[in-house]
Amino acid sequence: MTRETWATRIGFILAAVGSAVGLGNIWRFPWVAAENGGSAFLVVYLGIVLLVGVPGLLAEFVIGRRSNRSPAGALRSLSGSNVWGAWGLFYVFTAIALLSFYSVVGGWILRYLVESGLALAGSGPAYFADPGQYFGGVAAGFDAVGYHVLFLALTGIIVFAGVRRGIELGTKVMMPAVLVLLVALAAWAATQSGAAEAYAFYLRFDPSAIRQNFFGVLGPAAGQALFTLSLGAGTMVTYASYVGEDRSLAFDGTTIAVLNTLVGVLAGLVVFPLLFSLGISPGETGTGAGALFVGLAGAFSQLPGGTLIATAFFAVVTLAALSSSISMLEIPVAFLVDEYDLERRTAVAGVGALVVLTGSVCALDQSIFGFVAGTLVDVLLTAGLTAFLVFVGWVMGRDALDEFRSGAGEVATALSTPWLFAAGALLPVFLVFTLLTTFGMDARLGFWPTAATAAALAVVIFAGVRGEPEAA
Ligand code: PHE
Repeated sequence: MTRETWATRIGFILAAVGSAVGLGNIWRFPWVAAENGGSAFLVVYLGIVLLVGVPGLLAEFVIGRRSNRSPAGALRSLSGSNVWGAWGLFYVFTAIALLSFYSVVGGWILRYLVESGLALAGSGPAYFADPGQYFGGVAAGFDAVGYHVLFLALTGIIVFAGVRRGIELGTKVMMPAVLVLLVALAAWAATQSGAAEAYAFYLRFDPSAIRQNFFGVLGPAAGQALFTLSLGAGTMVTYASYVGEDRSLAFDGTTIAVLNTLVGVLAGLVVFPLLFSLGISPGETGTGAGALFVGLAGAFSQLPGGTLIATAFFAVVTLAALSSSISMLEIPVAFLVDEYDLERRTAVAGVGALVVLTGSVCALDQSIFGFVAGTLVDVLLTAGLTAFLVFVGWVMGRDALDEFRSGAGEVATALSTPWLFAAGALLPVFLVFTLLTTFGMDARLGFWPTAATAAALAVVIFAGVRGEPEAA
């Protein structure tokens, strides 16, 4: 069976943007930014997107396009080592963990979309009456399971249809729709009474928040950057493995990162004016899942034409979430198709059945949900990206440079050597450092011992990887 490829270059870019743009931008980004000093956080976050995100994205692209395989097959075939092949299973696990909680949140969104849409002709959706209580009632339990399964089924249908006719076609429709609707919503939000105050809050520059607690901001900023760019799970490896011809990966990667950031900022321009118009302070409604559902749903309920706005808003979020969840499902599906020659349809059914179960666990137990959506995902993505970077730097080496340069323009070619150095040496140390801060090491022992430990650990990893047998 010949392996599918994207039909067009724009198809690949939109699919990757579709994966990147998701709940991370619309639901998580505005809140994390607001909590960590507004635009001061924005500056640190943008720095990490540029200095860690883009090089990391390119590392995944290089691995995928060079091998034309999903992560497990890619790492094994490029290294000639079964140890790397076995490490590839890590990404299958990560994808399933991601999809398990993401599909539950996707289910919530889908429910709000359905409720809002059905209420267009009537007197307002059920959640308008008491958004907090409503959300509390549907967030967990069998209600949540039902919509999770529905959302997963939609995801499965698109992935089942294949790379070109499912993912590419789907994102080609979904992404422009998301952009147009978001711009329209942001323009409308600008006319609301609280807009000026909201912009001042969101775009305020408060360097003292960074100066006081730089390392406290670093962890959330790095976590957010990886999650939002879909890095460390192998999505971008898998998507790049369907790239047929050689064109500039650096150009495509930068485009994807810029578009993704733009959507994050736009989402903030929709969310904050709404809340401020109604005198809801972002701090009050709390963060996490509730913020979007309780705070915004409450805001919609008090606005003229709120049902229509709510429908448009939840449609945006549903499309954005769907174009991300398909990229998660594609990882294990591509693995089964590539490695075991399974039919796509069988692979989708098998993985889908598994995630029906694992997702239901998340839907029924809120503490498991919180752990998977928070710490587990942060750690898996950080470790996953570190491994890709080390692979590019220490196993692929010159091959990675070749692949990076093929199709690249002058600027990208000139940057290729610094890129490899950053990917192979600097960024792994940085990521190990953020992992250690996630576990609270810097708070307990201080900056220097943590940095030294990170550097030492990275050197041990580099040495271990060098000891692996060379590619045959
Ligand atoms: N980037 C997606 C979002 O922002 C989430 C995602 C993470 C998708 C990892 C794929 C892999 O919602």
